[in-house]
Amino acid sequence: MSNLSETRVIVMLILEHTEPSSCLHWIAVSQGRYEQAEEGCLMEGDGLSQQQWLRQRLLLASLALGSLLLLVARVGTLDRLQLICPIKVRMPPAGVSWETPLHTFQHKHTHRLKLHRTNSTRQKLQMHLLIKQLPRAIIIGVRKGGTRALLGMLSLHPDVVKASQEIHFFDNDQNYARGIDWYREKMPFSFPHQITIEKSPAYFITEEVPERILKMNSSIKLLVIVREPTTRAVSDYTQVLEGKERKNKMYDKFEELVIDTNTSEVNTKYKAVQTSIYTKYLEHWLKFFPVEQFHVVDGDRLIIDPLPELKLVEHFLNLPSWISQYNLYFNATRGFFCLRYNFVFNKCLTGSKGRIHPGVDPSVKEKLQRFFHPFNQKFYQITGRTFNWPRGFQ
Ligand SMILES: *[C@@H]1O[C@H](CO)[C@@H](O)[C@H](O)[C@H]1NC(C)=O
Ligand SMILES: *[C@@H]1O[C@H](CO)[C@@H](O)[C@H](O)[C@H]1NC(C)=O
Ligand SMILES: *[C@@H]1O[C@H](CO)[C@@H](O)[C@H](O)[C@H]1NC(C)=O
Ligand SMILES: *[C@@H]1O[C@H](CO)[C@@H](O)[C@H](O)[C@H]1NC(C)=O
Repeated sequence: MSNLSETRVIVMLILEHTEPSSCLHWIAVSQGRYEQAEEGCLMEGDGLSQQQWLRQRLLLASLALGSLLLLVARVGTLDRLQLICPIKVRMPPAGVSWETPLHTFQHKHTHRLKLHRTNSTRQKLQMHLLIKQLPRAIIIGVRKGGTRALLGMLSLHPDVVKASQEIHFFDNDQNYARGIDWYREKMPFSFPHQITIEKSPAYFITEEVPERILKMNSSIKLLVIVREPTTRAVSDYTQVLEGKERKNKMYDKFEELVIDTNTSEVNTKYKAVQTSIYTKYLEHWLKFFPVEQFHVVDGDRLIIDPLPELKLVEHFLNLPSWISQYNLYFNATRGFFCLRYNFVFNKCLTGSKGRIHPGVDPSVKEKLQRFFHPFNQKFYQITGRTFNWPRGFQ
């Protein structure tokens, strides 16, 4: 067979055999039975031996698969990819091609057009139709606790869809006044069985938020990710400092903000200190929600050994156990875990995660740790989860 006709065959195959599985099936059957494979996957009468045939088919199938993957890889962001390539393949109801949702995800308009074609198509599509759902779980905080990493890691789960940005619906009066439909509209498309998760770390410390969330759904699940309080305070300060430096503004030293110069005690008016008093905010939340509706994630552990923490969250959210070590690989250059959605797609968490903290005066650090100690004890007692703080400090 000449090169030209071979190319033609490849193109034909890719174009015509839209369902490569029948070809793959054909390859899988043992020699001698290939004649029984589905028509259309066989070429007749060109005098090739069975073995040559098999080799050729294998090559063609790999090419087709390769092109498909390339196509999907070019589609765009991971958020979209996740929808286009659900990791867990579910069998469609009889009579519905599994390719149908693929098209509908890519172009919202296309699916609308398709919907109008026939009523039976509409019925079929409705089974796959994506909807925007209110979150069934919210990561409410804490700032600098690792909320972004947690949400990113949870989105490895095929039953989880994440809002791509912080929505600030419940903590921002202007947004809240826009109503619940505005909030829902901000959510990503999802299948009905999937759960949508949002994160806005300011929720944890904003007084009005618990009551507002309660009004939306009183049985919602609430995730709180915390780090060793002094570490968190330094991290909080560092982020503000970087913002100031970007604008060429001066900013006080951490030690000056954290210690009240008049009393030489910890300055409890400083926000980075306040936010680290987790128990104070949690006790406010507990006036609205029972403690069972909260799950506390260890943010220090999530960074160095994420899987056990993610397993606990899966369990808390009643999700089937799915995320495995395969989905998380350590990138030594970054010193941080990256996410592997499947054998093609992976993503390293971007931004400030590897940020270097400024050196903190050891006596100030110790003063802070002593200050947080009683609050930490209270926090352990309420949540039933004990941390070895301040050991998390580096
Ligand atoms: C298709 O659906 C429309 C509206 O739902 C209905 O009025 C119409 O009778 C349906 N047509 C058929 C052929 O079922
Ligand atoms: C409220 O949240 C719970 C827990 O996630 C969920 O099972 C339930 O469907 C939600 N209710 C509504 C109306 O969204
Ligand atoms: C320290 O005391 C002085 C004088 O009483 C007062 O003006 C200043 O605001 C105090 N500083 C702080 C951080 O409380
Ligand atoms: C690891 O991180 C570095 C630096 O961010 C990046 O260039 C590289 O692609 C990452 N490697 C993998 C395998 O993700």
